[in-house]
Amino acid sequence: MVCKLICVAIKKSTPFKHQNKRMQKIPLHRKRKIRTWVPGNELTIFQELDSKKKSESLIDLASNDYLSLNRHPKLIEAANKTMNTEGLGAGGSRLVTGTRPIHKKLEEALQEWLNQEQVLLFPSGFQANLAAVLALANRHTPVLADRLIHHSLLLGIKASGAKLYRYGHNNLNDLEKYLKLFFNKKNTQSPLVITESLFSMEGTSPNLKKIIHLCKKYKAKLLVDEAHALGVLGPEGRGLCYELSSSVTMISGTFGKAFGSGGAFLACKKSLGEDLIQTCGAFRYTTALAPPLCAASLAALKLIKLHPKWPSELQRDSITWRKELKSQGWEIPYGTGPIIPLLIGTDEKALQYQKILEQKGLLCVAIRPPTVPEGQSRLRIVIRRNLPRETLRILLNTLGKS
Ligand SMILES: Cc1ncc(COP(=O)(O)O)c(C=O)c1O
Repeated sequence: MVCKLICVAIKKSTPFKHQNKRMQKIPLHRKRKIRTWVPGNELTIFQELDSKKKSESLIDLASNDYLSLNRHPKLIEAANKTMNTEGLGAGGSRLVTGTRPIHKKLEEALQEWLNQEQVLLFPSGFQANLAAVLALANRHTPVLADRLIHHSLLLGIKASGAKLYRYGHNNLNDLEKYLKLFFNKKNTQSPLVITESLFSMEGTSPNLKKIIHLCKKYKAKLLVDEAHALGVLGPEGRGLCYELSSSVTMISGTFGKAFGSGGAFLACKKSLGEDLIQTCGAFRYTTALAPPLCAASLAALKLIKLHPKWPSELQRDSITWRKELKSQGWEIPYGTGPIIPLLIGTDEKALQYQKILEQKGLLCVAIRPPTVPEGQSRLRIVIRRNLPRETLRILLNTLGKS
């Protein structure tokens, strides 16, 4: 239903040729088919680090635990320690009884690591994205968003009442056309541009320097979702906004991916952060992030700082994997991060590959519509730190030539 509403809103508001293929209307019978989750599948997801289960488990090439921190002893120890002293949940919202020293500690550590004036924690990235859009847009704001932004951002736009204009994926000429359209237009607020820094299903990144240049030129605000880039891209994993952060209005990040934990944050200038604290319902009226998760994220941050080469090693592996897969004829969008989508085409074929890989001990999930456009089903391969050496060889042998 929500998809349908967004679809209608977008159709009305898209003056250029990029139609919203990703959200196009899908017949109901097909919706049911593609949304069916087979219970029990998740039980097969074990990491290769778990040696006892190794023989019966799959090597995980699907989850977003890029730095393999999810079961790291330091994270578990930190979470346990905090759980033993503070309990499981925060027990209240941030402005009532929910704020603990660990929240402040994590916010300050992130401020310092990302060189940001203010960081505010949220229970999830989905919620942080909703909050970010609601803070930066209202019904008078033209929102110019990459065609492939995350669903949480789309819902934020819808909730804000703003009019959405989607530019082609990473197509900055297209973005500029929209920006020109609204530049100095009477009775219109300055636009908000929204992008991700590492797209979750494409593994691609935008030219952020160019986007910032355009935003400055046409006086637009910029929101960047760094969910998949943090811990992975940019100097020592600080994300692609790190060196440009003073020109980005707001950054959102999550601990649910490379940080191996859960929860999220928004980072921005102090004045905007103060506004969020005073006015943002998604920050004020929700139970604060669970203290053990804060402790785990803080432990993850310490590890990432202690091992500044992890992100570049992951990128090096990504380049090798991409090169080898391409040499077998597989089509892969350009990127350097750990998300490597193999474009396959039909749902059936993608599922077939998923099954074959599973038989060879690799967990690799077929991504199908509506998550990706019709006809663009793919295998989303995610590489992680510390994968067993033979993984790439098994993958190449099993996939064969495209
Ligand atoms: C690009 C992007 N942003 C935000 C989120 C939401 O993050 P979280 O899982 O912390 O809610 C996701 C997760 O799927 C994502 O892929």
